[in-house]
Amino acid sequence: MTIDIHSEKVLILDFGSQVTQLIARRVREQSVYSEIHPYNMSLEKIKEFAPKGIILSGGPSSVYDKDAPHSDLGIYDLGIPVLGICYGMQLMTQQLGGRVELCDKREFGRSTLVLDGASEIFAGFEGGAEVWMSHGDRIESMPAGFELMAHTDGCPVAAMKDEKRRFYGVQFHPEVVHTPRGEEMLGNFLFNICGSKPTWTMANFIETELASIREKVGTGKVLCALSGGVDSAVVAVLIHRAIGDQLHCVFVNNGLLRKDEAEKVVNLFTKHFKINLDYVEATDRFLNMLEGVSDPEQKRKIIGNEFIYLFEEEAKKLGQVDYLAQGTLYPDVIESVSIKGPSSVIKSHHNVGGLPEKMNLKLLEPVRELFKDEVRLLGKELGMPDEVVYRQPFPGPGLAIRCIGALSADKLEILREADAIVIEEIRKAGLYRDIWQSFAVLLPVKTVGVMGDARTYEFTVALRAVNSLDGMTADWVKLPYELLGSISSRIINEVKGVNRVVYDISQKPPSTIEWE
Ligand code: XMP
Repeated sequence: MTIDIHSEKVLILDFGSQVTQLIARRVREQSVYSEIHPYNMSLEKIKEFAPKGIILSGGPSSVYDKDAPHSDLGIYDLGIPVLGICYGMQLMTQQLGGRVELCDKREFGRSTLVLDGASEIFAGFEGGAEVWMSHGDRIESMPAGFELMAHTDGCPVAAMKDEKRRFYGVQFHPEVVHTPRGEEMLGNFLFNICGSKPTWTMANFIETELASIREKVGTGKVLCALSGGVDSAVVAVLIHRAIGDQLHCVFVNNGLLRKDEAEKVVNLFTKHFKINLDYVEATDRFLNMLEGVSDPEQKRKIIGNEFIYLFEEEAKKLGQVDYLAQGTLYPDVIESVSIKGPSSVIKSHHNVGGLPEKMNLKLLEPVRELFKDEVRLLGKELGMPDEVVYRQPFPGPGLAIRCIGALSADKLEILREADAIVIEEIRKAGLYRDIWQSFAVLLPVKTVGVMGDARTYEFTVALRAVNSLDGMTADWVKLPYELLGSISSRIINEVKGVNRVVYDISQKPPSTIEWE
């Protein structure tokens, strides 16, 4: 019998914090399924959802703001444990009759939590813990029935509890890495207080999803576009395990891929996984379409349209197809709360947008419940190699938006070689998996150099390496000078046509990760 992997689930009500998704990830990392919903989810829907516990997230508002987001008061009558985090704790305080006030000084950063007596949330903690604070309001008086659990220097009520009703509040953020034992605290809430069982594992997920794919697809045919990236690759392998040859994959080589990428994808899917794969060699077609085009958005449009056109042609050859498989992830489907300013959802680029309607295909999105790190775990569980599973994100338009200005086959070749050196050196330094994206950009600038006795007049390569959580914000990586040195000298020595390498030290925002 398959285990119901959703039965132990936790509901996270989102009040607009930038790190709400981290709460869901930390919960799932402990093998408990969690979903994020907007703070104003109706009581009826909450009951239907039937969570084992509810977590109220942080948020940018003050509970006393005129338009402060409030969740339904009825959640406190459901008999379900509730944990309020930061704004969530303040809201709980206000809703249950306590008092919240503005701090004299906003508390931001690391703080030392001092425990005031024992409690289930801090089981296993002797005396205190390092925590991360970020708040401008604080609890002045707790609601009736609550007891103090912990304080910090700047915050008299840093954690509180009402054990009888199983309501808990923490002023700090257990979900961020700067609270080193935050995961343990959340685990205590999940297991000691909510009584959840750890059923959300990738092995269980596979079993459940295989059954669901088989049931949905029946004897139908599924089409999947492989991009070379981790999401579509994992989706293909998962679906293949469920329905074997009813899956047909299409992989288009648009001539904008990284060095050896096409060959690697073809080998892995046809030789290793024995998946039906149509390999479409379309380098010339794409480069012809892109000739003389230097506007980045125009490049994107041409590549996107041409891809759809080609994909449709290939699909027609297969006859009747019923489903289009897509690597949609959970962050793409979370209904985002935009209380102040834009929500923190990654910019999504749908390379096959519009296709399902046009071709009358139903969508098959087997990983739409998963975060990216879970997709990677799933890939590992399915026996996929690390090189694919831990691949850094790569944009759909590929090298076209890293070769600045108008493209040519020669320039793309220079960029491809330089990029391969960047990846190789970063891997050699053991940093590849720690970095969000690291790559080369070919600038349309020729500068003077000397080689031997002669002057050269050749291209400049920019090196970009950034760390990011979701691509929305990013910071440049402080790569060791030795590594920068070896990348630079290898590119200049080994790649014909380049005589200068520069390092991009810009943050996003205001810069972007890509140069186009
Ligand atoms: P920017 O450059 O906007 O990039 O800071 C944020 C993230 O999105 C990726 N990106 C793209 N991905 N098609 C894609 O599939 C695109 O047109 C595209 N443009 C940017 C980029 O690599 C980074 O991860």
